[in-house]
Amino acid sequence: MSVLGDVAEKLQNAKRVAVLTGAGISAESGIATFRGKGGLWERYDVEKLATPRGLKSDPAYFWEWFEGRRREMLGAEPNPGHRALAELEKLVESFTLITQNIDRLHQRAGSKNVLELHGNAFTIYCPRDGWRMETYEPLPSIPPFCQCGAVMRPDVVLFEEPLDEGTLRSAFLAAENAEVFMSIGTSAVVYPAAYLPVEAQRNGAFLIEINPEETPLTAIADAVFQQKAGEILPKIVEKLRG
Ligand code: OAD
Repeated sequence: MSVLGDVAEKLQNAKRVAVLTGAGISAESGIATFRGKGGLWERYDVEKLATPRGLKSDPAYFWEWFEGRRREMLGAEPNPGHRALAELEKLVESFTLITQNIDRLHQRAGSKNVLELHGNAFTIYCPRDGWRMETYEPLPSIPPFCQCGAVMRPDVVLFEEPLDEGTLRSAFLAAENAEVFMSIGTSAVVYPAAYLPVEAQRNGAFLIEINPEETPLTAIADAVFQQKAGEILPKIVEKLRG
């Protein structure tokens, strides 16, 4: 049987499916990935832009960059890969989409059960009094201030920060219970997210990887598509529909 046929059959027979996505799924929507050629961390200073220290020492610099990213994400459209995953959710009894992305493109494509491991770019909160809001509008000031006078921050996980415990627990539960686990568009080098596919496979899941490049998962995955997510995912869903 072809790899595509094999994967479609596994999905057909699975009651519980979990998926982990990374920046690669949004690449075809025009959003830059982090690593590799042209990646964000090649062009920008991680220390200044993605650490709590950077945000604290120069909030205007951080927010100018981050507001630019927010606008870029809002200007982007979900691509066929995002849409195929939203379709797949309707075909599977229990489907959990775990994403490292903060762009909300999965939700805009129609995905419902989404766990945002690294937060999202559109919720901002005050680290002093906890006041939070969701905003898709251009920020009234850079940096944005809370009424209490403190600089607000985005509800995203910065380097060296822990992930939300409840979200992480739900993600591991979904991975451990999955019969099929798909790792899509992630370099699989950032932990704890990168443990999820390994943990799923250790608990018996059939592990599928979709990524044009090799990752640490490629050698252990049960099926590998070295292709773009937006090209192969619609084919998988089409095959599954028969
Ligand atoms: P990376 O930039 O590390 O990896 C993106 C992956 O997507 C690479 O392995 C590419 O080969 C692959 N890729 C590129 N185009 C693709 C396409 N069209 N279809 C499928 N795959 C494609 O991004 P992440 O793995 O998401 O964390 O990075 C993980 C975390 O590191 C991010 O969430 C972020 C970053 O630092 C935080 O901000 C906390």
